Amino acid sequence: MNAIETNLLVKRYPSKNGALVEALRGVSFAVRQGDIYALLGPNGAGKTTLISILTTLTPPTSGQARVAGFDVVTQTAEVRRRLGVTFQEIVLDADLTGRQVLDFHARLYGLDRPTRRQRIDALARLVDLGDVLDRKVGTYSGGMKRRLELARGLLSAPQVLFLDEPTQGLDPQNRASIWRYIRRLRNEEGITLLLTTHYMEEAEALADRVGIIDHGQLIVEGAPADLIGRMGADVITLAGVGDAEALDARLRALPFVSHSTHHAMSEGVRFQIGVDSGERRLAEIIAAALGDSFAVHQVTVSRPTLGDVFLAYTGEQLRDE
Ligand SMILES: Nc1ncnc2c1ncn2[C@@H]1O[C@H](COP(=O)(O)OP(=O)(O)O)[C@@H](O)[C@H]1O
Ligand SMILES: [Mg+2]
Repeated sequence: MNAIETNLLVKRYPSKNGALVEALRGVSFAVRQGDIYALLGPNGAGKTTLISILTTLTPPTSGQARVAGFDVVTQTAEVRRRLGVTFQEIVLDADLTGRQVLDFHARLYGLDRPTRRQRIDALARLVDLGDVLDRKVGTYSGGMKRRLELARGLLSAPQVLFLDEPTQGLDPQNRASIWRYIRRLRNEEGITLLLTTHYMEEAEALADRVGIIDHGQLIVEGAPADLIGRMGADVITLAGVGDAEALDARLRALPFVSHSTHHAMSEGVRFQIGVDSGERRLAEIIAAALGDSFAVHQVTVSRPTLGDVFLAYTGEQLRDE
C-alpha cells in the first residue's frame, strides 16, 4: 500500500519576464506506507513545490497525486485531514509561548480543551520541549523552534507527515536530535514521512528510500545503500589535464571499475571512478592515466556517499549550503 503516489507531476510558475519557470517536469514516484522517504536535491530543484502540491497548497499544472489514497486536487479535504506538514521557513510569533502556538493550531482542528491539553503535553514530551513550553518562543534556540514546528505538524495526528528541510541551518547536535524524533515517529507511531533535504548525510542517516531530484526531475531513486553500492566499494577521485575521453574508455575497460564519470573543472578534468578496492587499485588507475599521457594533479580515495551518486547522475556536486 502506498501512502503517496504521483504520476507525471508538472508545475509551471509564471515568472516576472512573462516566461514560465518549470519547477517540476513530470515527477512520478511512490512512497510505501510506514517508510521514511527523502527527496534529496540542491536549492531550486523543486522540492518545496512538490511538497506544496502534495499538501494541497498549490495545484499541479498537470499530472496527478494521491496522499493516503485521496486525490490532492479533487479530494482536498480528505487529504488535509490525514496529513501534517512543517515548512522550510518557520514563522513563529516571538511573543507567544510554545503552548500558545500549539493551542492556537490545535483549535484549527476543532479539538476540545481537554483533548488539546493532553495532546500538546504528549507532543511536547515527544520532542523534549516539556520544560520550556510556557516560555516565549522568542527565547527558543533554532533547534527548539524546529522541534516546536515538528510538534505542530503532529497535532492533527497525521498518517503522512511532510517535512520540508527539517534541519536546515541547525548545528550537527541539534540535527541529530531531530533525526531521533523522526525515527521515533516512524517506529512508534507508524507515520509515513516524506522529507526534503539538501544534506546528503541526512538522507543517508534517515531514509528507507531516497529520490534524487534536480531541475524538476527525479533522476534516480532507491535504498541509500543500494544507490551507494552502485558506485563500487570505493571511489577514486582523480583530477588532472589530458585527453579525458581516451582515459575514460581505458578506465571503463578495466574489470574492477564499476563506473567512471568525468566532468570539466575550471582547470582540467575531474574523474570519479568506482572500484572494488581503492587501496589495491590506486596504482593501476594512475598507471592507466599515465598510459594516456594524462597529467594527474590530485588523487583521493574515499568511501562513496550519496554525494557521489548525485555527482554520477547529474554531473554536478551536491553542495551542502
Ligand atoms: N511561487 C513561485 N513563483 C515563481 N517561481 C517559483 C515559485 N516557487 C518556486 N519557484 C521556482 O521554482 C523552482 C523550484 O523551486 P522550489 O520548489 O522552491 O525548489 P527547492 O525547494 O528544491 O529549493 C525554482 O526555480 C524557483 O525559483
Ligand atoms: Mg525548498
